[in-house]
Amino acid sequence: MTDSSSSALSRRTMIAATAAAASAASLAPATANSAVKNTSKPRKFDIERFVDDCVIANRDGVDAQGAVSEVLARAVSDNGAVLNAIGELKEAGITPFYRSKTLTIFSAVWTPQMNLMPHDHLMWASIGIHTGREDNILWRRTSDGVKAYGAEALFEGDVGILPTDVIHSVTNPLERFTGGIHIYGGDFFDTTRSQWNPETLEEEPSDGPVIAAIFDRANERMRQFGAQ
Ligand SMILES: [Fe+2]
Repeated sequence: MTDSSSSALSRRTMIAATAAAASAASLAPATANSAVKNTSKPRKFDIERFVDDCVIANRDGVDAQGAVSEVLARAVSDNGAVLNAIGELKEAGITPFYRSKTLTIFSAVWTPQMNLMPHDHLMWASIGIHTGREDNILWRRTSDGVKAYGAEALFEGDVGILPTDVIHSVTNPLERFTGGIHIYGGDFFDTTRSQWNPETLEEEPSDGPVIAAIFDRANERMRQFGAQ
């Protein structure tokens, strides 16, 4: 494992722990066996305010990704509120919330058991899961093509911290939808990146239309075989 990936994983662990602590705190008054009725209103997830908070955090001159990831961790710690704001997950797709030269924020939905081939981003990425689970395989370039070297499973409330040079493939292992908020440290939609053929691992260009076609195929497969 590279130094950058090690620090990314330890950072992720820290972020996830923060999210879990926040989640536990918010659930504390209303556990199933609690005799005390929770009369407080459920928290709401305000997408505009969340975007504003991320834009401000991204101005952090020392660790913009860390600052943005803390905002994201707070949001997905109440994953039910995020899902309520986003609405029912019905198909694979990307819904942009914000786009600039230095920051992209969108909601992404994977169909049941959807796979995304190895790909890079060429910018940092932080992924907060609010519904389901996302399994990541981490790859790196070698003199003999890309090789898998690590894995990370992200559950509801987790935030994955991916460094600028990451190559990962993504699987939704569940028989239901997985949803997350994805944040990138650049203009995700205006960057030509690479993807690697899942069978041959040959490098190919990837961009917005290529990704859109992958989502279209996943939805077509779901319609063909039915939501599992
Ligand atoms: Fe990705």
